[in-house]
Amino acid sequence: MGKINPTLVPKIRLYNGIEIPTIGLGTFGSDHISATQIAEAVYDAVKIGYRHIDCAAVYANEKEIGEALKRLFDEGIVKREDLWITSKVWNDRHTDVRGAFEETISHLGLDYLDLYLVHWPFPNSHDVGVSVDSRDPKAVPYIHQDFMNTWGVMEDLYQKGSCKSIGTSNMTIPKYKLLLRDCRVKPMINEMELHPHFQQPDFVAYLVKNDIRVIGFCPIGSPARPERDKLPTDTVPIQDPTLIKIAQAHGVHPAVICIKWSVQQGQIPIPFSVKPAKYTKNLQSVTEDPLSDEEMAAIRALDKNNRFIKGQVFLWPTAKDWHDLWDEDGHITTN
Ligand SMILES: NC(=O)c1ccc[n+]([C@@H]2O[C@H](COP(=O)([O-])OP(=O)(O)OC[C@H]3O[C@@H](n4cnc5c(N)ncnc54)[C@H](OP(=O)(O)O)[C@@H]3O)[C@@H](O)[C@H]2O)c1
Repeated sequence: MGKINPTLVPKIRLYNGIEIPTIGLGTFGSDHISATQIAEAVYDAVKIGYRHIDCAAVYANEKEIGEALKRLFDEGIVKREDLWITSKVWNDRHTDVRGAFEETISHLGLDYLDLYLVHWPFPNSHDVGVSVDSRDPKAVPYIHQDFMNTWGVMEDLYQKGSCKSIGTSNMTIPKYKLLLRDCRVKPMINEMELHPHFQQPDFVAYLVKNDIRVIGFCPIGSPARPERDKLPTDTVPIQDPTLIKIAQAHGVHPAVICIKWSVQQGQIPIPFSVKPAKYTKNLQSVTEDPLSDEEMAAIRALDKNNRFIKGQVFLWPTAKDWHDLWDEDGHITTN
């Protein structure tokens, strides 16, 4: 498999002056890809030219990824400062962010992170593999003061230099308005679901206006997510006839078109695969053969406002349904 020169991969400058590579490798294996397989993909992906890895404590593979990083450093393939490593504090550690951070960097074998995110704005957790319909009796709606206490420790970690950047994930505009009103340090990045069938144009515009950059998760539409997480109304972006037609014109898989489209819009996709041919093509795609303005416009017109990562398992007992997590009427749902 060929190598891709990492200097050809575009970077985006954050408001704090730090540059992030515009494509990263996702590392969430869900329940079907093992930690060892993912760590091996991280090792090999860095060898072929990836410089950005999206990790999280809840993916339960940071120890194995840490071993892969150690091999890469020991073998002189990259230096720590060549890599962008993201991790996220899980919902059950909102009141112990410092402890969770220490655990993550110890597992990864690092002494700092490039980006640390609050994974979800809710402190609601669940056991691995629980039914999507189950409700944790201890789960609660968004409580702004609690979130700001969590964010305050993120700010401390940033100000101490333990994380070069900090950010959020799975947020909404109403929650962001409160965060920007009350924070000491504005997030540099929000990680959010973004693909051709779920483009969140208003939220992206709001973030860009506030000089906050976006990392797009599930950029291909997460076609292999577990069946239990799919609703009959969910669509499949890589089966969209427009994407297929554009892909044929470029001689690539529609997944690759999703990646090009994301990067050309100024976003930072983090596609997942442990298959070398796939993750190599994804990286290569951002270095060559860009989409035309017409193709970009055609994909922009495909938005179906179709959220795939609904977050049902984080609902509290009195919540109506998963829409309550996303403040769709412009107000934070508080009961
Ligand atoms: N912040 C959050 O709350 C959050 C939530 C979800 C995900 N994430 C992050 O986002 C990452 C990506 O999300 P995801 O894995 O759900 O979805 P995704 O990247 O949209 O989709 C992954 C799927 O796309 C396929 N694929 C990848 N490259 C391809 C190519 N070149 N040609 C054809 N198919 C290709 C893979 O195929 P194979 O199965 O054959 O490899 C895999 O099934 C995660 O790994 C995680 O790091 C974050």
